[in-house]
Amino acid sequence: MCGIVGIVGRDSAVEDVLDGLKRLEYRGYDSAGVAAISSNGLERRRAAGKIANLEAELNNQALSGNIALGHTRWATHGAPTTDNAHPHTDMANTWAVVHNGIIENYAELRSQLSNVTFATETDSETIPHVLASNTGTPLQAVQSLQGQLTGAFALGMMCAKTPNTLYATRRGAPLVVGLGDGENYLGSDPMALAPYTNTFIFLEDDDVAVLTAEGVTVYDSQGVEALRPVKTLDVSSVLAGKEGYRHFMLKEIHEQPAVVARLLEQYWDSTSQKSQLPQVSWDWATVPQITLVACGTAYLAALVGKYYIEQLAGIPVQVDVASEFRYRQPPLQKGGVFVAISQSGETADTLAALEYAKEQGQHVITMTNTATSSMARLSDVVLDLTAGPEIAVASTKAFTAMTVSLLLLAADIAQAKGITVNSGLPQALQSLPQVLTQQLSQDRDIQAVAKQIAQADSLFYLGRGLLAPIAQEGALKLKEISYIHAEAYAAGEMKHGPIALLDDEFPVVMLATSSDGLLDKSISNLQEVAARRAPILLIGDTATLDAGNDLCDWQLQVPNTHAMLAPLVTTIPLQLLAYYVALEKGTDVDQPRNLAKSVTVE
Ligand code: AGP
Repeated sequence: MCGIVGIVGRDSAVEDVLDGLKRLEYRGYDSAGVAAISSNGLERRRAAGKIANLEAELNNQALSGNIALGHTRWATHGAPTTDNAHPHTDMANTWAVVHNGIIENYAELRSQLSNVTFATETDSETIPHVLASNTGTPLQAVQSLQGQLTGAFALGMMCAKTPNTLYATRRGAPLVVGLGDGENYLGSDPMALAPYTNTFIFLEDDDVAVLTAEGVTVYDSQGVEALRPVKTLDVSSVLAGKEGYRHFMLKEIHEQPAVVARLLEQYWDSTSQKSQLPQVSWDWATVPQITLVACGTAYLAALVGKYYIEQLAGIPVQVDVASEFRYRQPPLQKGGVFVAISQSGETADTLAALEYAKEQGQHVITMTNTATSSMARLSDVVLDLTAGPEIAVASTKAFTAMTVSLLLLAADIAQAKGITVNSGLPQALQSLPQVLTQQLSQDRDIQAVAKQIAQADSLFYLGRGLLAPIAQEGALKLKEISYIHAEAYAAGEMKHGPIALLDDEFPVVMLATSSDGLLDKSISNLQEVAARRAPILLIGDTATLDAGNDLCDWQLQVPNTHAMLAPLVTTIPLQLLAYYVALEKGTDVDQPRNLAKSVTVE
């Protein structure tokens, strides 16, 4: 997703804005730019491709000033070219604007600006021209935008008429103000500003912020000065970097035992063996239905959560991808609970689905790794995943945190309804961090298999029951970082069509465990696959590998564990498999092509 960084009051503003943009690279982008105001007036430099290209441009044509505004662009309207890169300016070069989001009425606005010669076809370029056409002071021109723009936007702006001032406003896309001493900052998220400050103001929709070196003033949507809370965040982990790992993704895979331990510390009382989630204002015994909505990997965690909640707590659960749910607008049962699951807490479709659920009177829980996010601020209850910043675009530790948090939620609901959580699960849960640690020490086998899998053009991932969503997650991981095509199916579905594709060049990854009572069915599926000579990678516990030994070409063993924890222990080899295949393919593991970490546009 696009990234915004602004600094006012610092002589090295241009250089530091670029450093801030580099900390947002994980969000995904395809061009970058920076503007500054100095004795030469308002100037900008832009470049297609990586930030290194922008740095080269700045080496050719230096830019200076104690106020700067930068942007990394993830193309929505218009190709990823230098001309389409932000900041955009008006014809008189009075305004420079950086934008994250989509202006839905940009065509109408362009038609109203008949005297303007547009340099691009982008929606974002409309904004500086609208500002230049607005009357009044620069602040009044910005405040008028609220009534002129429709769509989602986070905007950083500066005006040559007020050379020591940054302006900011947002609607539906994240934007945060950082507070310094004699300098102040603007960013798409706190991560970009971590080296400069740990105190932040999170703007509300339609707020307008005015930043100078001396201070920050926030006006609400009515133009009235508003005192927004100042939050202090722990930004140390953001500054930690890769800590010796080759990629953030590998570091985050290896952080998972600690993430699970932290979740248990936060949400599980090991003495009473009971969950201790934040209190809710409703009685779970009266809840007729739970709705889980998310996107991508978070949606696949929700599919696991459905099993957990229905099996442990006995409440019907519907699961949907947010981009469908928000337009399907299904009737929701009165007294129902809606759970938004989102690592970033800013995914546009999930946010819109949450807003629909609120309009329908649902109780709303947000499960997120960003407790200061838009979704969190709109929810009755927030379950913080406490996984620490996830930098790699491909989600790993956040997925595990979501899955464990959904299990703890299911246990909490069961507890509230007086249902005893089935025996063995609490003990298995408490030993999960150690089990995952032991697993992560054995990735040599996975590297060997990865060299084989990397030769494939397409693969199937198969699983049953709780492992069917994990098969989907494994296929998604492989696709998004190695660019190899992979599809996942509930194993029982093979016979209903997909099996037509199998031959000796079409590998199949099968997940199975002996603890869910479905092993014999999975072995039958394996026999069907082997009969078509497809190479097979079997991932399972010892009993599974014994049962399938004669059918598979490669095996990866996972620990014997409680059936409910099989998703957690089978995810680990799938994450590492995708990682090592991507290394074989030489792709950009942490920032795969075309992907963004937080999809804040629909
Ligand atoms: C997962 O590897 C992807 N990065 C992507 O599917 C992601 O899970 C999805 O975009 C949802 O993001 P969110 O959890 O921040 O809402």
